[in-house]
Amino acid sequence: MTSIAQKLSDIIGGVFEAQGLPAELGLVRVSDRPDLAQFQCNGAMAAAKQAKKNPREIAQIIVEALSSNDIFSKIEIAGPGFINLNVTDTFLEGYLESSENFGVDATDEQRKVILDYGGPNIAKAMHAGHLRPAIIGDALRRIMAFKGFEVLGDIHLGDWGTHMGMLIGDYIREGEEGLVLNANAQDPETVQKLMDDFSVRYPKASIAAKADEALMTEARAITVKLQDKEAPYYPIWEKIREVSIEGMKQTYGQLGVHFDLWKGEADVHDYIAPMVDDLKAKELAYMSNGACVVDVVTEEDNKEIPPLIIYKSDGAVLYGTTDMATIVERMKLYEPSRIIYIVDQRQSLHFEQVFRAVKKAGITNDNTELTFAGFGTMNGTDGKPFKTRDGGVLRLEDLIAMAKEKADKRLSEVNLADDIKEDEYNDIALKVAIAAIKFADLQNQRQSNYIFDLDRLTSFEGKTGPYLLYQTVRIKSLLRKAKDQGINFEEKEITIQEQDRALALLLGEFSDALNLSIQHYAPHHLCEYIYKLAQAFSSFYANCHILSEEDTAIQASRLKLCQKTALQLETALGLLGIFVPERM
Ligand code: ARG
Repeated sequence: MTSIAQKLSDIIGGVFEAQGLPAELGLVRVSDRPDLAQFQCNGAMAAAKQAKKNPREIAQIIVEALSSNDIFSKIEIAGPGFINLNVTDTFLEGYLESSENFGVDATDEQRKVILDYGGPNIAKAMHAGHLRPAIIGDALRRIMAFKGFEVLGDIHLGDWGTHMGMLIGDYIREGEEGLVLNANAQDPETVQKLMDDFSVRYPKASIAAKADEALMTEARAITVKLQDKEAPYYPIWEKIREVSIEGMKQTYGQLGVHFDLWKGEADVHDYIAPMVDDLKAKELAYMSNGACVVDVVTEEDNKEIPPLIIYKSDGAVLYGTTDMATIVERMKLYEPSRIIYIVDQRQSLHFEQVFRAVKKAGITNDNTELTFAGFGTMNGTDGKPFKTRDGGVLRLEDLIAMAKEKADKRLSEVNLADDIKEDEYNDIALKVAIAAIKFADLQNQRQSNYIFDLDRLTSFEGKTGPYLLYQTVRIKSLLRKAKDQGINFEEKEITIQEQDRALALLLGEFSDALNLSIQHYAPHHLCEYIYKLAQAFSSFYANCHILSEEDTAIQASRLKLCQKTALQLETALGLLGIFVPERM
């Protein structure tokens, strides 16, 4: 099963092929002029160019070949050779009755896909900047899994650098390492206390080390000992990592963001030395100005691509080195067909260098796809990167709390059912807050910056998460009412009337939106679809009788359309990591 447009593309592609023309030219799209036709195919123009013929002539041949096909209620040539198409209601009804999985067909790509998102550093408080990778990465994970990919989401923690040496050094100097070593990482209160401690201690240690060369040297020395797994450095580090992960799990848990792998830079430490040996043996890595580097520039480059630094004279490995070694490990353990990085756009050069070095070294296979899916900045209403009122970094948990407070206020403005108890209410408020945050982010093109405006994004009107939840809940409550009234519609057939057609056609577009989101690693296509579907439902609801419809066949058919709409909305929102409450 596929989308309606895809089904039509297959049919018309076949007709092009029978005429000795490329099947791809038979591509059918949903018409951008719904007043003229439901679908359009523009292939005759390109075909005419190739065959050096008149496009209308080619369109005529295609149209004639299609005329015996009974799924079209209209086939017309317009302008220079556009083919405009409508399908019959019978076809549409058959499609809706028989489509499984909302018309999404499974991918035939069987191998694993790794998504690298999140990337927080341990022992640091998570902040607003960690929101975008988590939301986008988790949505892509869900979307690709729905399409049948075997997806692994990896958090790729920053857990192995000099920042660890600074923090551990501070604990030892203050004689307070016991605070960490004896901590119970399973106790939420201890975790909270230590996370607060890290967030004061780390910046203090970092400022001190930057101001005092001796402290910096000490931090580096500790980092080396840590990386050699020496006590007490390594056990302190292990506990810091464990506590940090517990802290992160709380925050990601609130956001509903999931990771399959909780690996980090430290995990690939042992891959580095053999990898560097191999790079040297292949004469790809060489010493330059005291650093070991790999050239990654090519003749086609028209901008400067500096070499990737593998290690510096003090022996410290760099960010690029761990990213390369991570690919070594991923190829060895998982053999993914694709690795996709959902990371701040500003790191694009870094990944370009890493990908080139990795390919030169033959670490991946010829057909392994390495993709940098960068994202833009989340700005405040002043258009500048999002900050607290006093200009500080906003903690992620505070941001969630702010959104929840706003959601609370919004909910007090709508009429909730009277019998909602506190637990259910809190669950609804969190779902509304998360829907607001996520939809505000995901509806933008991944690469663009966007403005995080709590007032706007929590509104129950407009292109917002709460609006979509509200619409979905409304349809679900309508369906409940129908059941309560004993209306039995599920066994009945869909029979499409004039007022139902736009909604019915849109239900057949789900798979196109999903495929586009995967093709470009861009959930906004799915957002666009969800919003269109919610709006189409609104017009449908306003323009026709449902529960009050007297013709029972039409009533049942409309209820079935409502049910399909609710299911599609709920499923699609779920793929964005947005969950619909039972009622609100
Ligand atoms: N920890 C990094 C940072 O704070 C982000 C990690 C992104 N992922 C990666 N594989 N490099 O900037």
